[in-house]
Amino acid sequence: MKPIFTIAAALLLGAAFTPAKAEAPIILKFSHVVAPDTPKGKAAEKFKELAEARTNGRVKVEVYPNSQLYKDKEELEALQLGAVQMLAPATTKFGPLGIKEFEAFDLPYIFPSIEALRKVSDGPIAQKLFKKLEPKGIIGLGFWDNGFTSITTASRPIRKPEDLKGLKMRIQSSKALETEYRDMGALPQILAFSEVYQALQTGVVDGQENSPSNIYTQKFHEVQKYLTDTDNSYIGYVLIVNKKFWEGLPPDIRSALDSAVKDATAYCNSIAETENAEGPAQGP
Ligand code: LMR
Repeated sequence: MKPIFTIAAALLLGAAFTPAKAEAPIILKFSHVVAPDTPKGKAAEKFKELAEARTNGRVKVEVYPNSQLYKDKEELEALQLGAVQMLAPATTKFGPLGIKEFEAFDLPYIFPSIEALRKVSDGPIAQKLFKKLEPKGIIGLGFWDNGFTSITTASRPIRKPEDLKGLKMRIQSSKALETEYRDMGALPQILAFSEVYQALQTGVVDGQENSPSNIYTQKFHEVQKYLTDTDNSYIGYVLIVNKKFWEGLPPDIRSALDSAVKDATAYCNSIAETENAEGPAQGP
């Protein structure tokens, strides 16, 4: 018996002192459609930095910008299927999921100021909207700002709503935007963000509306002649995760990620305004 006991004890002791095999990190894929050098792009990188540091590397965040993985509609499907875990689509993009309520954010001049917007995005209305996502297998974590839109066009400047008459205007997939543009006499066309540059270049559409940071980083100025600073729509995002993934995380990891979300959200909302500010006048 003695030798057997000795061998068993030695094996147990050996096991106790063998360093634990490093566990594979949890991979969190964060897909988005804009350039890295935008409020959303920078906030996604901030989330990665905070999430990886606060979980001591137990979570690895892979950020895929510029529709590298998926376009607007496909990314929502990919999130529901669990092919990616996190997204931050614009409020305009939830209609195809059958959730119309986010389109209240797309109504023209709905927010008189950022403070008014914040009351909605940080208050009980936001929580009610997040609840609408749950039956779709999605959890809402926060609202990220981009900015208010300017209208760009190729053929003529827009000085009054009637100037849009007959122009083919690219819009995001929001019924509120569609109605707004139709009411102004334009011909709205829904296109994915990744298709806009080419559509403007080839004349498939005459113009579009977007935040200054999106216009600049997508180089729309190369294929558009006029920009009118209308501020008519708000472009902001809902930070969302796959419900099964989020709820399946170990509690300590989830609370570290919750704190990374909170701070990345505050970061995004603190830089959005300056990221969209016009720079100093350049001129001869
Ligand atoms: C657009 O489609 O124009 C924007 O929603 C893109 C974005 O995510 O800012």
